[in-house]
Amino acid sequence: MDSQTTYNYKVVRQFTVMTIVWGIVGMLVGVYIAAELAWPQLNMDIPWLTFSRLRPLHTNAVIFAFGGSALFATSYYVVQRTCQTRLFSSGLAAFTFWGWTLIIVLAAVSLPLGITSSKEYAELEWPIDILIAVVWVSYAIVFFGTIMKRKVKHIYVANWFYGAFILTIAVLHIINNLEIPVSLTKSYSIYPGAIDAMVQWWYGHNAVGFFLTAGFLGMMYYFVPKQAGRPVYSYRLSVVHFWALISTYMWAGPHHLHYTALPVWAQSLGMVFSLILLAPSWGGMINGIMTLSGAWHKLRDDPILKFLIVSLSFYGMSTFEGPMMSIKTVNALSHYTDWTIGHVHSGALGWVAMVSIGSVYFLVPKLFGREQMYSIKLIDWHFWMATIGVVLYIVSMWISGIMQGLMWRAVNDDGTLTYSFIETVQAMHPFYIVRFLGGALFLTGMLVMAYNVIKTVSGARPADAPVPQTA
Ligand code: HEM
Ligand code: HEM
Repeated sequence: MDSQTTYNYKVVRQFTVMTIVWGIVGMLVGVYIAAELAWPQLNMDIPWLTFSRLRPLHTNAVIFAFGGSALFATSYYVVQRTCQTRLFSSGLAAFTFWGWTLIIVLAAVSLPLGITSSKEYAELEWPIDILIAVVWVSYAIVFFGTIMKRKVKHIYVANWFYGAFILTIAVLHIINNLEIPVSLTKSYSIYPGAIDAMVQWWYGHNAVGFFLTAGFLGMMYYFVPKQAGRPVYSYRLSVVHFWALISTYMWAGPHHLHYTALPVWAQSLGMVFSLILLAPSWGGMINGIMTLSGAWHKLRDDPILKFLIVSLSFYGMSTFEGPMMSIKTVNALSHYTDWTIGHVHSGALGWVAMVSIGSVYFLVPKLFGREQMYSIKLIDWHFWMATIGVVLYIVSMWISGIMQGLMWRAVNDDGTLTYSFIETVQAMHPFYIVRFLGGALFLTGMLVMAYNVIKTVSGARPADAPVPQTA
């Protein structure tokens, strides 16, 4: 059976290429705003280049354009392969690609212009929100339509995770963005005061849990066993992992609102569920890593597997750190500081970006009918650049964040503050430079990837000896 014609690889190819393109764009903006924090004059007094406008551009680009494209690409590939059937409706699948691309372009124009609903990770204004809902429902129809016409009885666990991610994001997006338009570019949330904050962080945390986690776990459950050439460590654990994870995430949102106007019981509920969340998160990580048992030697010379396994280590690290930060007394120190930013990027760069990169390296040769990637050595270079880049980023933010928190709360014997705010800013400066360098290194790795992919797609003769790969 010729998989190139049986399956709909066109839309998978389109989303895979855009994963790399949006990854580079989103991270470039990330590196630029990191530089602005170290050297503020880089905003050049141009409103569109100010940190406040470019920051949401960065978060939207990396989460929804880069992460979103990786999720579309891999879910469309995985659902076809594991259901042994072609995607339901090629027309609708193509609509999701062009619709998603249009949304990203509209975001890239409206955010620098300062058009925003000002809800974090949901900044886009109402006309774009409606378009997102339409594209997302189409995505759900394509995905679940494919599941329904599957040729095998069983629904592989990766599809459970992708399915939960697709359904939950639809609900979150629609409920959090209920708003009253006052003009084409301005709307106000229908929720008042503390309820608005509660709904926003119910959305925000589940955007982490379902957009940045569940979908990528779907990726893990397909690509780790494939690349390792081993069955998943425990299928039973994967089912427990699924139900435990999705039923716990929903309740953890209030940990973003400790010490606010939210009722104290709701804050404590958020804390308790966040602590419980450690168990399913680590269950999933262990399931992924242990899939390698009996095949650990493959890690030595397979950089794609290194990307996948190291991403799981970062997943484990950030899902240990998150529950700790949700403890109210710890949060009193970490909240508003760079510690949060370090936590975000150990999840976002270490887990989300690295598992996506590993999966894209797996996909590219298969989608373009090549034996393997043009250069395995360059993948290895990319791996080290990415790993060192993330470590520089998160370690500098940990030090800067904890120092910042301690300096803010330091008081003299007479009750006055020990440090002025500007002194804390000065103390953070060297760490902002290190974060910038770490980000720049990670971005350089992405450029190496783009070069390697272009060479592979254009059919250049492999630059180094083949490594064993599974189909
Ligand atoms: C080259 C890589 C990257 C660099 C240099 C970078 C840099 C930055 C900077 C400077 C900020 C603002 C921090 C602040 O407000 O103090 C930020 C925020 C953020 N970035 Fe990145 N970033 C990168 C990659 C990514 C990726 C791949 C993702 C997601 C998949 C991501 C997600 C986020 C999020 C969610 C925030 C907001 C955090 C919060 O509000 O707590 N970043 N990034
Ligand atoms: C068990 C899992 C996790 C728990 C319990 C958790 C908990 C937390 C806590 C307590 C905060 C700080 C809230 C604050 O002080 O404002 C936070 C922030 C954040 N976390 Fe996690 N985290 C987890 C995993 C992850 C992962 C895997 C990612 C990314 C892939 C992630 C992304 C974020 C983001 C983006 C923020 C910043 C939100 C904002 O203020 O803009 N988290 N998390």
